[in-house]
Amino acid sequence: MDVIVEKITEEATDIKSLRLVSPVGAALPSFEAGAHIDVHVGGTTRQYSLCSDPADTSAYLIGVKLEAQSRGGSKAVHALKEGDHLEISAPRNLFALAAGSDSALLIGAGIGITPLIAMMYQLKAQNKAFTLHYFARSQDHIAFSETLLRTDAELDFGRVHFHLGLDAPATGGQLDQLLARPENGQHVYFCGPGPFMEAIRQRCEDWPKDAVHFEYFSAEPVEVTDEGFEVIAARSGKRVWVGPEQSITDALNAAGVEVCVSCEQGICGTCLTAVLNGTPIHNDMFLNDAEKAKNDQMLPCISRASSRTLTLNI
Ligand code: FES
Repeated sequence: MDVIVEKITEEATDIKSLRLVSPVGAALPSFEAGAHIDVHVGGTTRQYSLCSDPADTSAYLIGVKLEAQSRGGSKAVHALKEGDHLEISAPRNLFALAAGSDSALLIGAGIGITPLIAMMYQLKAQNKAFTLHYFARSQDHIAFSETLLRTDAELDFGRVHFHLGLDAPATGGQLDQLLARPENGQHVYFCGPGPFMEAIRQRCEDWPKDAVHFEYFSAEPVEVTDEGFEVIAARSGKRVWVGPEQSITDALNAAGVEVCVSCEQGICGTCLTAVLNGTPIHNDMFLNDAEKAKNDQMLPCISRASSRTLTLNI
């Protein structure tokens, strides 16, 4: 879809929000809280969560942090000007609110707050109980503070708790308290940087699996330890060498075996592929530990192989 960047707002240190609208003033496709869009900019594709009210399809709002180690995506978005055109995908949701849950505990850190804001709108509209805990480095790093601090009758987000400037042990202490035991019917949703996510996942080990929901917004760089391997694309029988410097999907696409990708970081699940033979090294954050242990599917945009050959159902 072609959209126009209608408004850019400096939300916090290194964080801008972009309000995107249809060039002809039409309504945009509807979405549910937790959804993200692909943004195609500067030759890259990046996923950004929608943080506007899902009931309002006149525009999409995204928040984008300028990453110090940007591979081009966030830098290109931060260089956009109001009035620029942008190509985006329709919304997709890998982080939806669970139907039927009684209450929600939302925990976000940094730019990971964005999907949780859309969740607050939706939960509020559904009259469901929720609290949000937002961890940020300082007051200046709180994104969307105007929305989060709203106290008007229409949208009183009075259930927001800020945790500012905490080091890792202090953050851990807060998380211990928040996640000590699952309340009946409560679901937890969290998003933030990798170590923050791991800290929460560890503390949720005793929670019912289906009550724990999370979304990674960026992946840690993967250390490649193999010297390359061969991938057999079973449907065509093509054999493709994957060198240490390239991903399986890059190697396959270069050889004419098309694999759909989106995040290319093992986060979104777009490239999920069945493994027919061989042993994958799972570097993704999409499959859970039990799914990884089966070795019957993998995310070839980021994962690799410990066997000399890997046969994929592709
Ligand atoms: Fe997103 Fe592979 S493209 S997980």
